Amino acid sequence: MNQIKTPLIVANWKMNGNQLLCRQFSETLECPANGEVWIAPPSLYLETLAVDKKLRNFVRVGVQNVYGKSSGAYTGEVAATMVRESGGTFAIVGHSERRTQFNESDSFIAQKFYASIEADLIPILCVGESLEEREAGLTYAVVEQQLTEVIDTSGIKYFHKSVVAYEPVWAIGTGKAASPVNAEEVHVHIRQVIAKYDDQFIPILYGGSVNENNVGELWEQHNIDGFLIGGASLNPHTLNSIIGEITR
Ligand code: 13P
Repeated sequence: MNQIKTPLIVANWKMNGNQLLCRQFSETLECPANGEVWIAPPSLYLETLAVDKKLRNFVRVGVQNVYGKSSGAYTGEVAATMVRESGGTFAIVGHSERRTQFNESDSFIAQKFYASIEADLIPILCVGESLEEREAGLTYAVVEQQLTEVIDTSGIKYFHKSVVAYEPVWAIGTGKAASPVNAEEVHVHIRQVIAKYDDQFIPILYGGSVNENNVGELWEQHNIDGFLIGGASLNPHTLNSIIGEITR
């Protein structure tokens, strides 16, 4: 069953890296045997990776965040059209670090999602529950609310141009990845929520403490279509190993 899955692996560098890391990626990252590799560096390094003579042949680049308006007096923000013009092809929206540390609401995230689609970027919509929410049995309700706000704003037709990433907040940067069974359960639920609108396939990635040791068993789950990777994606050798584990 897994032979027919082709993974999508997205590296989220967060606020890490520099020009040297871009060069190391260019020298070291290997083209996957199958599947796709996308990299979201800090946006200042987007163009460096986008024009790199080697990486541009097999890596898509994108951003970790984007603003929900097309232009105007929004000091410090970057529009989706600017990302597109600089060679980016996707945008992560609604990462839990933005929801919690920058107070981004579901409706604000829905605007960013819509702006990305309008600019021809593929949005990667992140959803996931906190530890308190999981312990209170609210995982499914939280994820459903995060999804439906965006689907209702953008319309299911546009939603189909996106990728969803399930990132339980308690698993991010903690070394405690969700168990394959727990992750699979939530991925199934995400599919069911989307299927209420219609049944077109949307890739669902898992994110949260993914590394070369746990990626194999997560990949065995039927509804996990790839990974959104933070810390382990900062080393191109580690990323090669992760990709190797699931594309052999
Ligand atoms: P870690 O892989 O460092 O847990 O981060 C996951 C993440 O937030 C990716 O967006």
